[in-house]
Amino acid sequence: MVQSESLLGSVTVVSDPSAIRHVLVDNVTNYRKDALQLRILRPGLGDGVFTAEGEDWRMQRRALAPLFTPRAVGEFLPAMAQSAAWLEARWTPLREGRRLDIANEMSRVTLDVLERTIFPQGLARDPAIFAQAMGTYFEAIGRMHPLDIIGAPDWLPRIGKSRPDASLRFFASAVDDIIAARRRWLEAQPQGEPHRDLLTRLLAARDPQTSAGLDEASVRANVLTFIGAGHETTANGLTWSLYLLALHPQWRALVEQEVDEALKDGVNEAALPRLIRTRATFEEALRLYPPAASLSREAIGPDELAGRRVRAGATVVVSPWVLHRHRKLWDKPDYFDPTRFMPGQREKIDRFAYLPFGAGPRVCIGMGFALQEAVILLASIVKMARLDLAPGHRVEPVMRITLRPSGGMPMIMHKR
Ligand code: HEM
Repeated sequence: MVQSESLLGSVTVVSDPSAIRHVLVDNVTNYRKDALQLRILRPGLGDGVFTAEGEDWRMQRRALAPLFTPRAVGEFLPAMAQSAAWLEARWTPLREGRRLDIANEMSRVTLDVLERTIFPQGLARDPAIFAQAMGTYFEAIGRMHPLDIIGAPDWLPRIGKSRPDASLRFFASAVDDIIAARRRWLEAQPQGEPHRDLLTRLLAARDPQTSAGLDEASVRANVLTFIGAGHETTANGLTWSLYLLALHPQWRALVEQEVDEALKDGVNEAALPRLIRTRATFEEALRLYPPAASLSREAIGPDELAGRRVRAGATVVVSPWVLHRHRKLWDKPDYFDPTRFMPGQREKIDRFAYLPFGAGPRVCIGMGFALQEAVILLASIVKMARLDLAPGHRVEPVMRITLRPSGGMPMIMHKR
């Protein structure tokens, strides 16, 4: 545990699994999302389930839970398989040995998944422009300005920081158009027609306790939240997986063997449980390069963590980046060893030593969705191509809300 007191206030970084459990589960009512995190995320995510607190959060979480049950996620398998096919069609005409920015490719394909699962009737905008605006937006809000860190009021100009307002306006209006079009379309549909995409489910979502639905602002905020929380995270997890596979050709050969066998008849329900090495690869990539590399909270009242006092108002940070490479918790923590996540080994991992999706009541609502999507995409990519690192490029992780490779991930594509 590391504690520091400075002008920025009191910050405690906890890496002891039992203290983490205390913050995220046992004494969770004493912790809320901290002001800095909310200042960074709220302009983009609005008051969706990620940034909401208290009763508002509980109501949203209850209403949204049915959208992400294993059964609901299972129904997205065909859409995810279509995205994998879309990527294959995109790469097939490319010449052998072509250099590709895999970070960008993963960003495109994970956006394609969201498009097919949230609004299969289209983004009402050019996807390339949508993806680019989103990249600019997250790049801009992800770069913390010193004035944001010290909590200066919003009207003080942030010199040197590109304001993401234009891309934010672009999203808000694109999403409003999509929602309005969907309402019109739904009204025109015969009663009882099954609509299984996330947007239709959001519009129909009800809090099981109060039967209240989500208002217009909340639907929009949660569409932006699903995109904001589910897009770059999954894309980065895939990018790091492909990077690690390129560094470990022996393991890659085993994964190739697995996917060639499991996807013989294409991507279907029967294939998923057979993609064990593929899934272990993704989980190990999330360990070494957790896309959400830091989680933070503010203590509402005083507390004690691992024998140290934490005062009210203090920021408590749980850093999966530090935790996942902790030498007291992991054997050879810096080694890529996906066998840690193979059946028989996986069960031995302490629940609070591995937190790529967080834990407790605010655990990632999209975890099952992300894992299914990632396994399908990773397996499909490994089946169609072998990716090697581009010579001369230095890979460096950088934290911009999510942990991504600075300057992208150029790789050389060899067709299989
Ligand atoms: C590999 C991909 C993903 C990673 C690593 C990831 C990681 C996380 C983490 C660590 C949290 C908890 C944050 C905290 O406690 O402060 C979280 C929350 C959340 N995630 Fe994910 N996520 C991923 C994919 C997704 C997807 C695909 C979606 C939706 C489609 C999604 C939606 C959300 C939402 C809505 C929350 C807020 C839940 C709440 O506060 O009740 N995430 N995610």
